[in-house]
Amino acid sequence: MLDDQTREALWRRLVETVENYLTKIDSARVAPELDVEKIRGALAGRDFAEPAGAVEALDFVADAMWRFQVHTGHPRYFGLFNPASTTMGIAADALVAAFNPQLAAWSHSPFAAEVEQHLIRSFGQKFGYDPASVDGVFTSGGSEANHTALLTALTSAFPEFSEQGLRGAPGQPVFYVSSQGHHSFLKAARASGLGAAAVREISVDDELRMKVDALAERIERDRAAGFRPLMIIATAGTTSAGVVDPIDELAEVASREGVWFHVDAAWGGGAAFVPELRPALGGIEKADSITFDAHKWLSAPMGAGIYLTRHPEILKRTFGVATNYMPRDAAGLEVVDPFTHSIQWSRRFIGLKVFMSLLVAGWDGYAEAIRHQAAMGERLRWRLQDSGWAVINHTPLPVVCFVDRALWEGATAEYLEAVCKSVVASGEAWLSIARVGDDNRPVLRACVTSYRTNVADVDALVESLNRARIREGGRNVRSGSKAI
Ligand SMILES: Cc1ncc(COP(=O)(O)O)c(C=O)c1O
Repeated sequence: MLDDQTREALWRRLVETVENYLTKIDSARVAPELDVEKIRGALAGRDFAEPAGAVEALDFVADAMWRFQVHTGHPRYFGLFNPASTTMGIAADALVAAFNPQLAAWSHSPFAAEVEQHLIRSFGQKFGYDPASVDGVFTSGGSEANHTALLTALTSAFPEFSEQGLRGAPGQPVFYVSSQGHHSFLKAARASGLGAAAVREISVDDELRMKVDALAERIERDRAAGFRPLMIIATAGTTSAGVVDPIDELAEVASREGVWFHVDAAWGGGAAFVPELRPALGGIEKADSITFDAHKWLSAPMGAGIYLTRHPEILKRTFGVATNYMPRDAAGLEVVDPFTHSIQWSRRFIGLKVFMSLLVAGWDGYAEAIRHQAAMGERLRWRLQDSGWAVINHTPLPVVCFVDRALWEGATAEYLEAVCKSVVASGEAWLSIARVGDDNRPVLRACVTSYRTNVADVDALVESLNRARIREGGRNVRSGSKAI
């Protein structure tokens, strides 16, 4: 245990360190050097034989994190859906670590449990659910929320599933997601005992949206072959291209076929909070369940996923267990013991970083931040097009997939990768390569994900790309190749 003086010195240094990080992050290189020997060398001397001072330990770790990580909160991080953390979220996570509320039994942390229920109702309402019947649970992230969706779909379809597992299912259950859907569904299929072969990847149209006809045809074929269609998943904001599937039409197919309808809005769900973007999610209110990640577009520090459902009894049916060792002090109250609604048992107070961020920013503050990022995405599109890049995806959300227009015929995946690497290695910005469409075409992918990203950052990315194109262009184009 640290003495009072040391503790106080540690808190001062912690606050200084965090404040220094937040104010100086935009002057850092976005990406680190990937030197595993240096990192292991720094750790080799730390064998826990000699106790370190508290402040020294903090300085050691902070220095290493400055040097050895991609700074996802950087305004020129045009990366995966990892935003800059909100300040209130950082404060909330520190408070949670200190108070350490136990989110298993309601009676241990009634305030925390009620905050999360309050948020579940608020988010449900934003997605168009009836607040009187919405239920949900905070998860470690989108993957756990998607896994939860699969388990609730199985429990709903096969009342015997909780007791008998898949042996209780009459036939092999299969489910449907577009070829652009997130691969957490593969893991969920494996972890639930269905196996990855139960995931039916449906092809997409030129706009990278799931083909409704192909879905209907596959379901028919599966039924004829004796499979049991279980669930259709619409992705609202695909990972590679930010594209939204035709939610309304897919909801109709699900209703006609009598299968569970899940919308994976892990990132794109942020559109629900901005009136002019909300129509992009039309039909989401018909979903039996929704995945939304507050650690994506709501900028909560990781991890903060949410699973929502309009079936108030399904989580309890899926996860409810009776024990003789959990406290029963809340018996008789109309409250939820979080462990009866979740894959997790003991868990941290995930909702606080969302609650405190929302308390201070309000829905309007978030709408403004998301609107700003969408506008930066729009700017990035036209700046790229003006510079001879061809944008190949269509979405109102700020993910931009592009290739070199002049080299469309001759460019190879190696060329795009070289451009990407060159930008990342410069430390000026971070972007990635993605593969899109049923044929896995390689593209450069840039997502405006930090609320700090401004016009100058977007322009800096385009200039960095233009320089990389000059450096790499000649070297990588094979004339006549159509590898792209
Ligand atoms: C569409 C989609 N669904 C689910 C996930 C998984 O979320 P997480 O990484 O929070 O588990 C992601 C991650 O990027 C995603 O893009």
